[in-house]
Amino acid sequence: MAILITGVAGFLGSHLAQLLQEQGRPFTGIYNLKKPDIPAEQLDLFDREEMLEKLGEIRPSAIVHLAAASSPNWCELNPKESQVINVDAAINLAAYARDAGIPFVFTSTDLVFDGQNAPYDEEWAPSPICTYGMQKAAAEQGVLLTYPEAAIVRLPLLYGWGANFMKQWVENLRAGQPLPAFVDEYRSPAYVEDAARGLLLLLNLGARGFYHLGGPEPLSRFDMALHIARAFGIDERLVQPGKQADVAMPAPRPVDVSLSSERAFALGYQPRGITEALEELASRV
Ligand SMILES: NC(=O)c1ccc[n+]([C@@H]2O[C@H](COP(=O)([O-])OP(=O)(O)OC[C@H]3O[C@@H](n4cnc5c(N)ncnc54)[C@H](OP(=O)(O)O)[C@@H]3O)[C@@H](O)[C@H]2O)c1
Repeated sequence: MAILITGVAGFLGSHLAQLLQEQGRPFTGIYNLKKPDIPAEQLDLFDREEMLEKLGEIRPSAIVHLAAASSPNWCELNPKESQVINVDAAINLAAYARDAGIPFVFTSTDLVFDGQNAPYDEEWAPSPICTYGMQKAAAEQGVLLTYPEAAIVRLPLLYGWGANFMKQWVENLRAGQPLPAFVDEYRSPAYVEDAARGLLLLLNLGARGFYHLGGPEPLSRFDMALHIARAFGIDERLVQPGKQADVAMPAPRPVDVSLSSERAFALGYQPRGITEALEELASRV
């Protein structure tokens, strides 16, 4: 029997799949619109009946639920569509896992917090200020009420090579374009490969309840952009300080949602610092 990964074609899902392949562990990936290069099953999680039928065929040994509408701005503009995947699908999958008696790992976000009381530990009550954060907070509660054995894993901003902001930043900087980056948005970013390892660690240990997989240091987007420019040998002067107020964004962003991840650290989660992670990354891309 295989681990089921929803959202396998996504940024984190593709890295988790690669890790499982390296370890020779069987898994079945689920995608919806974007077919990945690895063998995977198509399933639109909007449709509960279809989901139950497909999972009945796959009979997974565990579920790691990564699929989501993960853009806060898109969720703000499309609250009904995003609710179905971010909340309803998560609860439906949790009910399936409960009935099948298998582990269920739900991925949430640091954006369940309002940014006024960082660093946030695993016990801090959610206080979201954007639709995406509200949906993830609602899903956390719904999943736990449905299946108290579930693990709720809050992720920080993830960086790495793939379909996310960092690759775009590097491409723009390499093209000599100035990069404005917020000095007033703090997260505890984690290297996506380390977050994938953290998820597997929690799954292997049968973790339940709340966990954070934050990186080891709080950084602003501006700090991150400087680290990235340095690691890729790009002129740091292209990185310019910007403020959230300078950019019109549908979803409000909390100022500081740095995470305290002591519970996962105690279990052996060891995220690299950004200097080490970017050096390793820059040497191979
Ligand atoms: N990346 C981060 O910095 C970050 C930070 C905090 C939390 N998280 C959370 O971590 C998880 C993974 O994030 P990510 O960055 O890997 O997200 P991502 O790259 O946006 O991938 C999300 C995946 O969800 C799938 N999906 C969306 N709607 C679906 C549907 N109706 N049915 C089936 N699949 C559907 C998409 O598949 P298709 O493309 O095939 O439609 C996509 O591959 C998410 O739950 C996200 O909220 C991520």
